[in-house]
Amino acid sequence: MDTRAPLSAVAKEHLAFCQDVLHGLAQPQKELACKYFYDERGSKLFDEICQLDEYYPTRTETALLEACGAEIADLIGPGVCLIEYGCGSLAKIRLLIDALDSPALFVPIDISGDHLLDSARALAEDYPELDIQPLIADFTQALALPEKVGQKAKRVGFFPGSTIGNFDHQAAIKFLRTVCETVGEGGGLLIGVDLKKDLKTLIRAYDDTAGVTSAFNLNVIERINRDLDGNFDLSAFCHQAIYNPEESRIELHLVSLMAQTVHIQGVDFRFAKGETIHTENSYKYHTEEFAALAAKAGFTTVKTWVDDNELFSLHYLTVCT
Ligand code: TRP
Repeated sequence: MDTRAPLSAVAKEHLAFCQDVLHGLAQPQKELACKYFYDERGSKLFDEICQLDEYYPTRTETALLEACGAEIADLIGPGVCLIEYGCGSLAKIRLLIDALDSPALFVPIDISGDHLLDSARALAEDYPELDIQPLIADFTQALALPEKVGQKAKRVGFFPGSTIGNFDHQAAIKFLRTVCETVGEGGGLLIGVDLKKDLKTLIRAYDDTAGVTSAFNLNVIERINRDLDGNFDLSAFCHQAIYNPEESRIELHLVSLMAQTVHIQGVDFRFAKGETIHTENSYKYHTEEFAALAAKAGFTTVKTWVDDNELFSLHYLTVCT
C-alpha cells in the first residue's frame, strides 16, 4: 500500500514553479512564464500598473464597458453564469454585473489564491444576491468548474485586460478552444484585446516613469530568491520593454548588467553581460486579425467595440454552431 500523502495543491504549485524556472533558465534564450509574476506582491504591483497614466488599456477598456454596457447586456441576455479567467482584483466584472440582467452565478478564476479570495469576499459584500464561486486555478490548464455551474444557464466567459495577448497565436487558439468547450453551445465570450498602435504609446505603457512596471518585472526574480532559494542580485538586472514588429508584440526582458552566475536550488546559471531573461509577450491585434484568430478556435464575432482613439477593442463572441 502506498502510504505517502498526496501532494497538497500548494506543494504541487511550488514544484511546478521550481521545474519551470530551472527549465526556462536553461534555454538558450532564458525565459520565465508570465503567470509567475502574480504572487501576492506581483498582483498588488499589477493593480498599480493598471492605475498608471501611461497604461492606457485599463481605463480605455473600463470606459468601453461603461459606454457599451446596455448593448452588451442585450446581446448576452438574462440569468447567465459568468466565468472570469484571471480576474485579479475583480474591478471590471462589477461593470458587467451592473449592466447585465440578473446574472445567476459568477465563477472568478485566478492563480493568486489569497488575492482572489479577498477580492471575491469584497464583491460578495456589494452583491449579496449573486452566487459567487471562486476557483483558485491556473486557467491555462483544463478546469473542473464548480458543481453549481449546471447545464441549464447560458455560460458566458469574460476575459478582459488583453490577457489573450500574453499567449502566442497557437496558445491563444488553444486557450480559446478550451473556453469554447467550457461555455458550450449557445455560450459566449466577452474579451478585451489591445490594438496595434504607434510605438511610443506602446512602449510607455510597459516602461512607466515611476518604475512600477520595472518593480513588477524584477519581482519575479525576487520571488525565485524567496521561494526557490535563489541568489539573484536585483541591482545587477534591469527592466526592458521592446516592441518586436515582426511578431507584433511587446516583449519584456530582464537584462543582466554584468557577467554573473546565479544559483537556484543548487544549480548554476551563467549570464553574459547584456544577456536577457524573456519574461513576457503582449501581442497586439487589428480587430479583423483577432476575429480571424477567434474563428480558428470556433467562435463567431457578434460585435466589436473600439474607443474613439482606437487604442483598445472589446469583442463579443459566440460559439459557432
Ligand atoms: N495583459 C497585460 C498586458 O499585456 C499584462 C501586463 C500589463 C503586463 N503590463 C504588464 C505584464 C507589465 C507584465 C508587465 O498588457
